[in-house]
Amino acid sequence: MGYVGHRPALEVVLGGLRRLEYRGYDSAGVAVLAGQGLAVERKAGRLTNLEARLDEVGRDGFAGTAGMGHTRWATHGPPVDRNSHPHRDVTNRVAVVHNGIIENFAALRAELEAGGVEFTSDTDTETAAHLVAHAYDAGDTAGDLPASVRAVCRRLDGAFTLVVTHVDQPDLIVAARRSSPLVVGLGEGETFVASDVAAFIEHTRDAVELGQDQVVTITRDGYRVTDFAGEDVDTRPFRVDWDLSAAEKGGHEYFMLKEIEEQPTALADTLRGHFGDGRIILDEQRISDQDLRDVDKVFVVACGTAYHSGLVAKYAIEHWTRLPVEVELASEFRYRDPVLDRDTLVVAVSQSGETADTLEAVRHAREQKARVLAVCNTNGAQIPRESDAVLYTHAGPEVGVASTKTFLAQIAAIYLVGLALAQARGTKYPDEVAREYDGLCAMPDAVARVLGTVEKVRSLGRSLAEAKAVLFLGRHVGYPVALEGALKLKELAYMHAEGFAAGELKHGPIALIEEGLPVVVVMPSPKGRAVLHQKLLSNISEIQARGARTIVIAEEGDETVRPFADELVEVPAVPTLMQPLVSTVPLQVLAAEIARTRGYDVDKPRNLAKSVTVE
Ligand code: F6R
Repeated sequence: MGYVGHRPALEVVLGGLRRLEYRGYDSAGVAVLAGQGLAVERKAGRLTNLEARLDEVGRDGFAGTAGMGHTRWATHGPPVDRNSHPHRDVTNRVAVVHNGIIENFAALRAELEAGGVEFTSDTDTETAAHLVAHAYDAGDTAGDLPASVRAVCRRLDGAFTLVVTHVDQPDLIVAARRSSPLVVGLGEGETFVASDVAAFIEHTRDAVELGQDQVVTITRDGYRVTDFAGEDVDTRPFRVDWDLSAAEKGGHEYFMLKEIEEQPTALADTLRGHFGDGRIILDEQRISDQDLRDVDKVFVVACGTAYHSGLVAKYAIEHWTRLPVEVELASEFRYRDPVLDRDTLVVAVSQSGETADTLEAVRHAREQKARVLAVCNTNGAQIPRESDAVLYTHAGPEVGVASTKTFLAQIAAIYLVGLALAQARGTKYPDEVAREYDGLCAMPDAVARVLGTVEKVRSLGRSLAEAKAVLFLGRHVGYPVALEGALKLKELAYMHAEGFAAGELKHGPIALIEEGLPVVVVMPSPKGRAVLHQKLLSNISEIQARGARTIVIAEEGDETVRPFADELVEVPAVPTLMQPLVSTVPLQVLAAEIARTRGYDVDKPRNLAKSVTVE
């Protein structure tokens, strides 16, 4: 984050970092242009460590109205004080914070070291600080900070978003963007740059998103954007459609718990406005109906939880459209030469819209002439910008590092894509499409009912806190739900957890079952595919016979399941394809409660960051 304005920069920047900390919490640092010099403090660990350090050294030396700060998710160099940002040049005049990876940093570092520069960190970022200082001191760019930053950017390879200050230019801050996001906040007599609007939302909702390979200079009075060559670039300011209260915990102990509770609203907001005149309406649909008719194959590409939402949606899209759907991890997709052409629809799903693997998958798909539709929760992020069309999930800001409400919203959004395809291709009659849409619109209430009954799941969670491992089983749409349940438990409670297709049990995983091992089973409805229900009951018998403790998520009123359940969690009866929307919720609550009982920070699990902007 960077700030130039009329308030004490240190407090503004620390406030911003508090809201950006979900992006990385290995270390934090600030630099303020104070008097004649740069006041800098950096500390490994959470932002609170930095704040404690500032209290220790005193904040008087940080009086100034321009400054910057950073929270880090370590890539180059371990998370220790000396690798924390901001980094400075040898003369202590330039400070730089950086997101991304400068891929040619080793060569640049060798060149700088050959010229006598002594490095004080293991980071790639420090090279940028020295290079800017050199550019500012000599040659065509001497005395011109924006020009110096542009010149340095032209030398850097990889992904880099930089914020740069120079003590000789106390009234401005320069920032550059390649890959990792950067947004400018436009206030009254103050201007901000940050990775996310959340950093400045308490001061202004007016913002400008920087495009790729652009440099912005901010002053109190405004901003100027150019490309790396120095040509002016036109920008389009926008108004953020949520406010500070959406970004606060609202009385909850953790953001994640608040976000679990927000799921009915997230679903309703995502569905709202997507049906009119008897038709499904997508958002920015830059793909024509004719193109949708021509689609002969669908890929869903995503990572982590977003990938699981694609696995769920595959069942619906294939059923509704009779199109083959492949769901692929974005990190694998482009390295295996997938068969794509202009009749392939690639659905790229990403909460943040900035996940590097998913972004690269989008680029690869577009190079192969496939149509790309992004499903994204962040307005104007890079993935939707580079896609042919976008459908936004209106889940609001998700701050907890583990995805919850956006998972449900992603499923709803990809279902809308499936219905739009079915409508364009005529594989469903309009009244059938309308019925499915109405079915989706009934889901916010069903999810609200689940939320009303989760107290039992919480106490179950507390009883599982000492377990060594938990297995999750499901079939059909319950299988990706099992995968998601296991992922939540791994990332939040640091517990070994695996999700399996129940039919695979006998092909290996059953060997894991031992006396007392908790196994969560996601049951299908007995009224849906009866054969699936029957088969899953047989699978539960097999594990019960081997001593497993069975925790069964089943439809209300499903009496047949009772003898098979050591613990029974009931969810409302909904159509088969809608079941993931209700059965995922208890698994989120379970993971959060186990993690809390074990004493972990549910919002910021270790080693993780919310946005993974490096591959
Ligand atoms: C898990 C989780 C991650 C993300 C993944 C993709 O709870 O949050 O697995 O789902 O990193 O992130 P986005 O959706 O931002 O592309």
